Amino acid sequence: MLFVLTVLFSILAPCTPLNILVYSPSFAASHTNYMARLADTLTEAGHNVTFFMPIMDEKTRNQLGVKLTKDVVVLEKDSTIKQQETSINKNSAEFWTVDVTSKNGRMLFETLAHGILLNCENVFKNKEVLENLRSRNFDVGIAEPTMSSGFALFRHLGIEKVVMASSCPNYDVAMHALGEPAETSYVPAIFSGVSGDRMEFADRLENHDIYHLMVQVCSEMLDQEARIFRSYLGSEFPDWRELFSDASLHFTNSILYLDFPRPAIQKTINIGGISVDVEKIQSEKLSEDWNEILDERPKNMFLSFGSLAKSSEMPIEYKKNLVEVFKSLPNVTFIWKYETDNVKFAEGVENVRFVKWAPQTALLHDPRLTAFLGHGGLGSTFEAAFLGKPAIMVPIFWDQTRNSHMLSRLNMTITLHKSELGNLKTLRNAFEEILGNEKYKKNAERVAETIRNQPVQPKEKVVKYIEFVGRYGPFHHMTPYSLKMPWFQRYCYDVYLYKLILYTLPVLFQTVKDSKTAPAGGSRIQSLSY
Ligand SMILES: *[C@@H]1O[C@H](CO)[C@@H](O)[C@H](O)[C@H]1NC(C)=O
Ligand SMILES: *[C@@H]1O[C@H](CO)[C@@H](O)[C@H](O)[C@H]1NC(C)=O
Ligand SMILES: *[C@@H]1O[C@H](CO)[C@@H](O)[C@H](O)[C@H]1NC(C)=O
Repeated sequence: MLFVLTVLFSILAPCTPLNILVYSPSFAASHTNYMARLADTLTEAGHNVTFFMPIMDEKTRNQLGVKLTKDVVVLEKDSTIKQQETSINKNSAEFWTVDVTSKNGRMLFETLAHGILLNCENVFKNKEVLENLRSRNFDVGIAEPTMSSGFALFRHLGIEKVVMASSCPNYDVAMHALGEPAETSYVPAIFSGVSGDRMEFADRLENHDIYHLMVQVCSEMLDQEARIFRSYLGSEFPDWRELFSDASLHFTNSILYLDFPRPAIQKTINIGGISVDVEKIQSEKLSEDWNEILDERPKNMFLSFGSLAKSSEMPIEYKKNLVEVFKSLPNVTFIWKYETDNVKFAEGVENVRFVKWAPQTALLHDPRLTAFLGHGGLGSTFEAAFLGKPAIMVPIFWDQTRNSHMLSRLNMTITLHKSELGNLKTLRNAFEEILGNEKYKKNAERVAETIRNQPVQPKEKVVKYIEFVGRYGPFHHMTPYSLKMPWFQRYCYDVYLYKLILYTLPVLFQTVKDSKTAPAGGSRIQSLSY
């Protein structure tokens, strides 16, 4: 009887509940959402999770936080930190026209870097919060490599079992610090503008350059951050290179079936899709108003360019082209997520609805929605994939080009460069294809079916691997030795050099000998006969 009870208990209960600290400063919805889903997944599995959220960006403090995790520690910015904030006012209309390349890529991190440094200061100056956290005796710490303050915090609190969780599929500086190969000749770097894994020379050059630029930009930012936490924790405190490389595991937001094939180190665990809760989406109901809109015409298409670039700031000729395309497809209702009421450019066009908000996942799940137009944010890219919706993707910034081509490669989406919104013919073709060619629907449904049936679900992976680290970690020996090697050893340049010398020396000697012994004029012919 006792045996049966013991067995039952060990099946039902998780291993001894772990005390887990999730470090998630509020700065962008997609990041917070990802970390919050990790926290909730672990809470659901019976662990004792603390969600530590220093406020970095006031605007995002209430976005998509944790739902099940009750222990949330919020750290406000104090007044001296607030005083140091300088709002770098980016002209957001530029998003529509400027491409990020290896030449101007620095601008990606301009605003974020400032916030990251202030946040680091804010965290380490608050001794009370730090001591409060220390008293909770955490077993495992989870943080994102966008900044290193979380990893420094874990080390400071004595948390040895650290898991890095990146909300990107392949975040350059984290890969670099972990010793993971970048393979830029066929793996699109995260912020690269290349259109996939088959690259011509110019694209390989650009992909290489933007990878290394981003590693450099992030390294500089993280070095500055290290200076800040070292001013509190001592000049000998390890910097981000050591802290990152010491993580026992690395969760990446990648779905093996969807992503570009690449080699990874053993620490890398793909948990892509953790932010898409298909069961919950299936239970979402559309309101009567939405049902009315969707029933009006035989086909529907939903357009959302995300929150970074505003539809209202799109160049007017792009807007006019879109409206031209809508007019030519009268059997389709176009629902366009648009920020303002000023939509004169669409006057008299009956089959377009402008909405300020839309229940995106419920719409994508609805069979009456024929297609989607998205900006290639990883969140909506995964939603389209899980819900099997054909899409046109118009990447704007960040990782969106890579995300878009990831699905185009599986023939379920069409990727347009944003400047192609200015080309009526290309635009019309894309809309006619995605709405009319059944092939996209079939492929999208196949993709959805496949990824929903992955052998191990992302939630299960998260729980099992955290419990594994919690029980048996830390795994220092899983850090590749490559990180301690100079570059010429790591990439075998010393071996190539040795071989080059080995093979060319005898030939050289022979040539020299021949030229001495051979009669004048005959040496060339003789050496050719080898
Ligand atoms: C769980 O965390 C809370 C808050 O830190 C703490 O009060 C409680 O004792 C913890 N439970 C266990 C089992 O460690
Ligand atoms: C719209 O749908 C109707 C009925 O399904 C059809 O007769 C008509 O040809 C369609 N119009 C266009 C432009 O596709
Ligand atoms: C996508 O389409 C191309 C061209 O038709 C084809 O060669 C390729 O195998 C397709 N890929 C998938 C994953 O279906």
